[in-house]
Amino acid sequence: MLATKTLTEEICDLKVERRAVLLAHHYQEAEIQELADWVGDSLELARKARDFDGDVIAFCGVWFMAETAKVLNPNRIVVVPDRNASCSLVDSCPAEPVRAYRRLHPDHVIVSYINTSIEVKAESDILCTSRNAVQVVNSIPLDKTILFLPDQNLGNYVQQQTGRQNMKIWQGTCIVHATFPVRRLIAASEAHPGAKIVAHPECPKAVLDMADFVGSTSAIINWCVHSPAREFIVMTESGVGHSLHKLAPEKKFYFVANENCNCSECPYMRMNTLEKLRDALLYLEPRVDLTGDLMRRARVPLDRMLALK
Ligand code: 13P
Ligand code: SF4
Repeated sequence: MLATKTLTEEICDLKVERRAVLLAHHYQEAEIQELADWVGDSLELARKARDFDGDVIAFCGVWFMAETAKVLNPNRIVVVPDRNASCSLVDSCPAEPVRAYRRLHPDHVIVSYINTSIEVKAESDILCTSRNAVQVVNSIPLDKTILFLPDQNLGNYVQQQTGRQNMKIWQGTCIVHATFPVRRLIAASEAHPGAKIVAHPECPKAVLDMADFVGSTSAIINWCVHSPAREFIVMTESGVGHSLHKLAPEKKFYFVANENCNCSECPYMRMNTLEKLRDALLYLEPRVDLTGDLMRRARVPLDRMLALK
């Protein structure tokens, strides 16, 4: 009697058949991270997508990340397990008002967080991620006014770090990070008095002001692993716990629930499942399909960001 394949075996076989690479963001379920060829933050995954030379990218993250991978690989197939894996920041920033802003202020520099639609990227001068946003803003001549979009908390943080005054900030927010209440962080800090606080820059200022370290998901993991401290309160999506526990099993990590879901999970990221990943590799759907013109225009600000060391 033939043994039936497990879901994991099916995915591994399909990966070979399709000459696929599996890229996973830190906010994916642990079982997806375990199968991935690379797990990373949005900047690392964009770099991995750029350096890829197989046929298919199975992007286990949210749609804008897969669109970015497609722009870097126009002739390859890019699939995402769930087409509805969006992002509240993308939804907070439609392309038409950005185009209108561009028409009104042709001399301003539009810096777009990578958490934007492909249409918004195509209107932008340069992109950034949470990891390099300060560096990107510092790379723009001081006499140029900047429109930073769409995350207001990241924008305010970057403004504080750079001291940049001529910077307008879009008022979008992440439903996960922006709803971490400082009172819950204070309570966690009182419960674990020796714990260091680490936070993603999409968190509100009151949370960031309490943090010992602010950075992207990979930067947070790296900082905790190398810190001499033993306990950490982690103000980001709890998917990072998977790498944290693997890399520093002797340390303790505490997550704080937000007011959106009373959890610390991104509802969009968590739409992806192993079953949907298997189907995406099998049927090569849902597939990212973009016009050549859109990809060419979005590639310019993306390459400018990736050219920064
Ligand atoms: P990173 O750039 O840290 O991967 O963050 C992406 C994101 O969506 C955070 O909510
Ligand atoms: Fe978007 Fe927030 Fe989810 Fe990140 S955590 S993908 S910013 S909704």
